[in-house]
Amino acid sequence: MPSRFPSASFRVFAPGRVNLIGEHIDYSGLSVLPMAIPRGVELTVTVRDDDVISLRNDDERYSPSRFRAAADIEPAPAGGWSNYVRAPVQATVRDHPGRAGWRGFDATIRSDLPAAAGLSSSAAMVVGSGLAFATANELGLEPVAFAELMADAERYVGVRAGGMDQAICVGGTEHCASRVDFSPLRMTAIRVPSRWAFIVAHSLVTAEKAGAARAGYNQRTTECRRALEAIWARVAPPGTADAASYRELLALETDTDALCRLGERELDPVLASRFVHTISEAQRVRTAQIALEHDDLDSFASAMAASHASLRDRFGVSSPQLDRVVELALRSGARGARLTGAGFGGCAIVLCTRDTVSGVLDRMRADYAPRLPRGAQLDDVLFAVTPSQGARVIGPSPA
Ligand code: GLA
Repeated sequence: MPSRFPSASFRVFAPGRVNLIGEHIDYSGLSVLPMAIPRGVELTVTVRDDDVISLRNDDERYSPSRFRAAADIEPAPAGGWSNYVRAPVQATVRDHPGRAGWRGFDATIRSDLPAAAGLSSSAAMVVGSGLAFATANELGLEPVAFAELMADAERYVGVRAGGMDQAICVGGTEHCASRVDFSPLRMTAIRVPSRWAFIVAHSLVTAEKAGAARAGYNQRTTECRRALEAIWARVAPPGTADAASYRELLALETDTDALCRLGERELDPVLASRFVHTISEAQRVRTAQIALEHDDLDSFASAMAASHASLRDRFGVSSPQLDRVVELALRSGARGARLTGAGFGGCAIVLCTRDTVSGVLDRMRADYAPRLPRGAQLDDVLFAVTPSQGARVIGPSPA
């Protein structure tokens, strides 16, 4: 991936994403189906002669920040936005032991992604800053290795997330969704039929991943792991090592219904719910991928409906506001809708056909308009998206 730009000034764009299906299963090593969107984070960068990174955010709520590129960078207080820049810089320096003479940069950062909305604004910031730092230092980047490094980097802010967001932010392909596989990371672009159209609809409740939603998220990752260990102990052949993965489990027992029944019988109710969601969501990703490849909008929409219901009833990450958005979308003529991202607030992704999308948007706008929080713009909480390209250096800074 090109990270070189023959100028001391350049701009970088890193997109947000929606996950079409495969929610809360990336950290269990199971495949997911996201796409990059046209909105994202843009950095206008001027390379410096020293190793200082000096940041200004276009949004005045976020105060300027300054630090030096090093293998150990003092974090800003928890939730501080500059941690999403400190993290990739620190990770990149650590990834090049022995290299000296790092060059920093002055950057102005602007984003048209609603924050804490489940659209990966944090991964866009991490990947965009990582790409800016790599470009300033003329590092060659290999997309898969870069995506993995950025996923590790983001764990610096304390969320034990899977690698979906950084992968699609780096590897998104125009007109395509991507099936993302893990261990090893692999991305396969799947063309989205031109008659399919998507809307992002905010629940008007934010979900701060480095804040309140973090505990709920991290708890889910632990529960999924505990459920796996308990079931693995029951199905694995005697003498098998206990370092199991969901993928190995699904290879061992291919009858997913039988596996779900086993989970319900053997696990306590909470772990059973998490387990059945994980196994059934993995199956839905497979069904949805086939539907996408065959332009089968109805099957894709059914998989979305089942995914949302499972996230709500078994995984406990929806909210009354997200459920309401999904119902509103379907009532407004959409074919499918589900929460996207971690949940606990944030956005839903809505599936329509191209010839009905503007009518669906109009009907949804009429519902949103009287409920808009003061200062919010309708176009920032309800907008159409198309499958887009991943992070890139887009050119010299405007003079
Ligand atoms: C967040 C995480 C992802 C993934 C989703 C839920 O966006 O960053 O890794 O776990 O939640 O699917």
